[in-house]
Amino acid sequence: MKRIGIITSGGDAPGTNACIRTVARRCLYDGIELMGIFDSWDGLLADKVRPISRDDVTGIVATAGTMLRSSRSKLFLNDGDETKATTALARHGIEGLVVVGGNGSQMATAKLSAAGFPCVGVPKTIDNDLAGTELTVGFLTAVEMCTHALDNLRATAESHNRVMVVEVMGRNVGWIAVEASIAGGADMALIPEFPFTIDEVCAKLSLRHDKLGRNYSMIVIAEGATDSGGVLADAGGVKDELGRPKLGGVGQLLARELEARTGYDARCTTLGYLQRCAAPIAADRILATRVSDKAYDLLTTGQSGMLAGLQGTEVRAVPLADIRGKEKLVTPEYYRLAELFG
Ligand code: F6P
Repeated sequence: MKRIGIITSGGDAPGTNACIRTVARRCLYDGIELMGIFDSWDGLLADKVRPISRDDVTGIVATAGTMLRSSRSKLFLNDGDETKATTALARHGIEGLVVVGGNGSQMATAKLSAAGFPCVGVPKTIDNDLAGTELTVGFLTAVEMCTHALDNLRATAESHNRVMVVEVMGRNVGWIAVEASIAGGADMALIPEFPFTIDEVCAKLSLRHDKLGRNYSMIVIAEGATDSGGVLADAGGVKDELGRPKLGGVGQLLARELEARTGYDARCTTLGYLQRCAAPIAADRILATRVSDKAYDLLTTGQSGMLAGLQGTEVRAVPLADIRGKEKLVTPEYYRLAELFG
């Protein structure tokens, strides 16, 4: 290959720039030209494509966001979209593509590869919900941010005898909520995978406050979690670019409901984009470097349609066809760890 491309897609995640830097460095050493595709798939169609130089990637290992910018695109949702993408890639003489992204992005990688265009995936999303890899780039930094927030919010909760509800990201899966809850010493983690009722949450609170004499509690809730009674289901009607409900707000609803039912003073803090915007911690920089290095190897040795996934201590080639439509959920065994300290 003489010229390859790199694209970042979906929500930004700490460590994405370290991925771009790694592929750029490998290209430099092999004499391959790297083309950066800006503004994701829509940017590709609009020819926002230019070479990435050594200078472009100097110093970016430590930076947040993505220098290529990103978006959620509708491209690949319809039959025939692959042709639009391959035509645009051909216009720029791009012979192979590295796609840095989460579930939606890797679905696109699989489609492009099935259409005959060489491309590979680098797992990147703070949600850590991509199957085929134990970790995704950005997740560990997001957990770190949430853990710091919990450590700090504990002081306020304790000083004011409050129940502090902390809402974190996680549309369908609760990895951030569970890991931050374990690390930050929360009393409950409420996640989409495991149904709960508001009454159960109230019962746990009254056990802590009335029986054990605690004066405060910390509850982490994933933005996609709802109670089985549907009290927290906040349709809102607002949709994102892909037509999915815009999430955010479940924590406020929970705090209001808990206060009404128990009489304890309850507040909510929504961590929102603070989880995504931080500089990557060292572990994310290293993971980003390892999976991108592997993805480059896969692409340049003709192994299209693969994700560079972390499995155990190794980064391996995972066929994207095998993980299509699958989300990596929090397992009951893992969730038990968070419940242990409730
Ligand atoms: O990147 C995935 C994610 O973090 C989800 O947990 C969340 O629902 C979504 O991003 C929100 O991002 P945006 O508002 O940028 O679409």
